[in-house]
Amino acid sequence: SAKGLKDYYAAYFPIGVAVNPRMMQNGPESALILAQFSSMTPENAMKMGPIHPEENRYNWKDADAIVQFAQQHGLKVRGHTLCWHNQIPPWLFVDSTGKQVSRDVLLARLKQHISAVVGRYKGKIYAWDVVNEAVPDGGDALYRPTKFYEIIGEDYLEKAFQYAHEADPAALLFYNDYNTENTVKRERIYQLVKKLKDKGVPIHGVGLQGHWSIHEPTAQQLDESITRFAGLGLTVQITELDVSIHAKQHERQEAAATAKSEFTNELNDRQAAHYAMLFKVFRKHRDKLSGVTFWNLSDKSSWLDNFPVKGRKDYPLLFDQNYQPKKAYSAVVNF
Ligand code: XIL
Repeated sequence: SAKGLKDYYAAYFPIGVAVNPRMMQNGPESALILAQFSSMTPENAMKMGPIHPEENRYNWKDADAIVQFAQQHGLKVRGHTLCWHNQIPPWLFVDSTGKQVSRDVLLARLKQHISAVVGRYKGKIYAWDVVNEAVPDGGDALYRPTKFYEIIGEDYLEKAFQYAHEADPAALLFYNDYNTENTVKRERIYQLVKKLKDKGVPIHGVGLQGHWSIHEPTAQQLDESITRFAGLGLTVQITELDVSIHAKQHERQEAAATAKSEFTNELNDRQAAHYAMLFKVFRKHRDKLSGVTFWNLSDKSSWLDNFPVKGRKDYPLLFDQNYQPKKAYSAVVNF
């Protein structure tokens, strides 16, 4: 059968894709996953809100379906994510009267959650995004002022990594974030991760989400990010890659006055060139980079169709709305 992304990159790193459980039931989508990818990340199914909707109730169905499909077909799974301020269940930070819980109660809940989720998939999930997006984009603070930070304090990060490590000592544990090419944020993330490393916290990797656009990052910025984080003695992965045709990530809201969006030939070419550049840098750093995962399967449906502007179409991936390879696909596999 024809070669897929995973075959072209077999000597480099696994190529992953973010999935939802409906794809496992969808003929063309599951076929495309199997032909092209060697790793999967549940797009939402393992987040705290979906998987742990009430304090004493877990919803394993969707996550189980994804892990089972991966096991059946020999794909790796990246777990995403154990501690994040978004997609949080309503019960997490309050008691039954609605009053905010204490540090001790929240730590106990975090431990219970992480032990249950990581423990259930022990040996089946090779890498976990343990803490997601703990560093703010602007301001002067090192820590994003989330409820985890406010209630527990800065050691919520090390606790989360310790709980995950206890539940599956063989899993690779990642800190994951976006906007990692912005030099101010990059240095903050570096400091935060370095603190954890210096303390002996079980952290093994840094995930660069890679929500980029045809305008960003430059090869040099990307090169610097990978080199900087690998300098901590950690592995690096690109965990949520897409290349938006719209404005730069941090400017997208302002540039979004018109919701109209057309994938012109010119954009097709620019996007292919950008993807070619990104993968050239990835290949150069194959000793530091241990995975590249795309955030969604094809342009038929991307989270960017509803972010940051609801209903504005984007075309950020390697496959078009009919699951056919785009110019960007050729650019990535012809090297
Ligand atoms: C996104 C999903 O793709 C959407 O379906 C969901 O509505 C919101 O979250 N950074 C992350 C991912 O770490 O978990 C986010 O995924 C995209 C940004």
